[in-house]
Amino acid sequence: MMEKATITGNGLKYKRYGQGEPLLLLHGYPLDHSIWEPTAKLLENDFNLILPDLPGFGKSHTLAGECTLKGYTDAILGLLDALQIERAYLCGHSMGGYIALAFACLNPQRLRGLCLVASQAIADTPEKREARLQQAERVLVQGVGEVVAGMPALLTVDVTLQEHLRQLILEQSPQGVAWALRAMATRGDSISCLKELNMRVAIIHGRADKIIPIEKAQEMHQACRDGNLATIEGAGHMPMMETPLATAEVIRSLRAGRRSS
Ligand code: MLT
Repeated sequence: MMEKATITGNGLKYKRYGQGEPLLLLHGYPLDHSIWEPTAKLLENDFNLILPDLPGFGKSHTLAGECTLKGYTDAILGLLDALQIERAYLCGHSMGGYIALAFACLNPQRLRGLCLVASQAIADTPEKREARLQQAERVLVQGVGEVVAGMPALLTVDVTLQEHLRQLILEQSPQGVAWALRAMATRGDSISCLKELNMRVAIIHGRADKIIPIEKAQEMHQACRDGNLATIEGAGHMPMMETPLATAEVIRSLRAGRRSS
């Protein structure tokens, strides 16, 4: 059962369960909160878990206005305010990691620690940006079938999981998917901000990630003041579903005084 927070006139749906300090888990593109469930279930005794559907995905409405990561970070800020949470841990998967890092740069005082899963801190190349903008146009005309064609095989080698993710992608709205493509295309480089961040940063990356090469995680790790990089054998782009035990263990290490490698 999902709850709903009203944020500046818009609604954000989320799930909440577990005991401890709050931990927000942000899903990647073009998916929803459910990708986090296999790992979140293992963390119920460690954190109070909050799993939102990002605007435009799952059961949350697409945002109005300019398509930028700031739209998403404002929604997360609104969610923390609506739930009266002063400080939380924040963990994001891939695009959710772009959003989590942007949030940390804008609102560091609201975070206890950051976790970036299968993500990166650099901006798109001009070619990638252009390809995303063109894909956004096509999705609005042809629907999300356009996205689903090649993506599941890039997400994981597990064929059962591929089929599950294919169905999940097909459930997403063309408007939300196009919004995300445009927001990712316009994002800047966050390496310099990562260098300044004064909080623990856990980085998790599957050794077999076909979407974001492992070197991007290593670049982030080198930039962090207090960073921890865990590369996971047997995981592709979806460690929270492919290797939940290992993923949960690293997320637990975010809490003060604990480390995992
Ligand atoms: C994601 O998994 O969130 C996206 O594939 C990231 C991206 O396209 O840059």
